[in-house]
Amino acid sequence: MARLCRACWSATFAEQEKPAEDPMALRSLTYGLFVITARESDKDNGHIANTAFQVGANPTRIAISVQTGNLNKELIEKSGKFNVSVLTESVPFESIRHFGMQSGRDVDKFADFGAVERSHNGLYYLTENVNAMFSCEVKEKFDLGSHMLFIGEVTESKVLGEGAPCTYAYYHKAIRPKV
Ligand SMILES: Cc1cc2nc3c(=O)[nH]c(=O)nc-3n(C[C@H](O)[C@H](O)[C@H](O)COP(=O)(O)O)c2cc1C
Repeated sequence: MARLCRACWSATFAEQEKPAEDPMALRSLTYGLFVITARESDKDNGHIANTAFQVGANPTRIAISVQTGNLNKELIEKSGKFNVSVLTESVPFESIRHFGMQSGRDVDKFADFGAVERSHNGLYYLTENVNAMFSCEVKEKFDLGSHMLFIGEVTESKVLGEGAPCTYAYYHKAIRPKV
């Protein structure tokens, strides 16, 4: 077997050891599924998110990560408010499609969607296929390039039902149509 000189061996070893990113590793992270609602200048909107999580207590703080090009990113930035409706496993794919696969720039997502009420902050929250809601006031935001991370302080929250919360994994396993 040919022997490598020390420099060649170091270069080869360094190449092999270079850290790499495996996109499949992201599939191991766990999430819930939510509708984030916002309102600005009489425009109501909502989008599906798998990123909403508690990041602080006393006062309770919740973080959401919103894609930069989304209408809701603009509405939340301008109004400084958002609501989180926690979806349950009973949520039909049609609701995911409605809020998560079209933009409020093109359609009024609440024109024909009746299962809503307004919280004290004036924003909509969903009343069907949900088990809790949170109203939040934005306290911090971090521009991550692809997404804006908003940190909100909870101003109101309610339990709305007893259904099991829908996880991102359950959505992929049982709700999303198989092609
Ligand atoms: C399962 C699922 C999870 C999603 N998670 C997020 C998320 O965490 N953050 C986000 O900004 N968009 C997420 N989206 C995409 C938005 O819901 C989608 O871009 C929506 O159409 C944006 O609407 P808007 O332009 O009216 O704000 C998700 C979509 C789906 C179907």
